Amino acid sequence: MDIIEPESAEDFRKYYSLRWKILRAPWKQPPGSERDPLDDNSTHLMIVNRQRAVVGVGRLHFNGIREAQIRYMAIVTAKQRQGLGSRLLQALEQRARQLGAARIVLDARETALRFYHKHGYRTVEPGHTLFNSVAHVKMEKDL
Ligand SMILES: CC(C)(COP(=O)(O)OP(=O)(O)OC[C@H]1O[C@@H](n2cnc3c(N)ncnc32)[C@H](O)[C@@H]1OP(=O)(O)O)[C@@H](O)C(=O)NCCC(=O)NCCS
Repeated sequence: MDIIEPESAEDFRKYYSLRWKILRAPWKQPPGSERDPLDDNSTHLMIVNRQRAVVGVGRLHFNGIREAQIRYMAIVTAKQRQGLGSRLLQALEQRARQLGAARIVLDARETALRFYHKHGYRTVEPGHTLFNSVAHVKMEKDL
């Protein structure tokens, strides 16, 4: 498994497709709902297997010079709990450091809280609830 930046239009098609499949489709959200205006100004990383199929995606953007935010972390269902999300998170953190971040913030789905705790993120406060059902928690980590 390799972690790469999507480059071609086909890479980006597969990248957004997995984001939608894991984070939007289960809540009956239409294709396109997985994107936001910051995508054009973000760092995107994805995990690809030997056949170059995308099995994991994640995004990093900056809220200010020193504060980065991670969003849209998603690992394909059959490959969850095998350490891929951890590899991707560490790669995004490394990229944040290289780009000058002192801190990373994120809104974690409650179901992913343990994952981020394990990686040193602390709970800040309750966050928003998406689609009337997916509760989030604001978390942060100093780099
Ligand atoms: C959350 C997610 C990105 C984690 O990636 P992953 O590859 O499954 O996680 P890892 O295998 O690297 O997990 C590392 C550790 O985090 C914790 N963890 C990960 N997923 C967990 C879960 N669903 N419940 C409880 N603990 C979890 C465990 O301690 C795990 O270690 P262990 O398997 O040895 O117990 C992935 O499961 C996913 O895409 N989930 C669905 C979408 C989602 O919730 N995205 C996050 C939105 S904020």
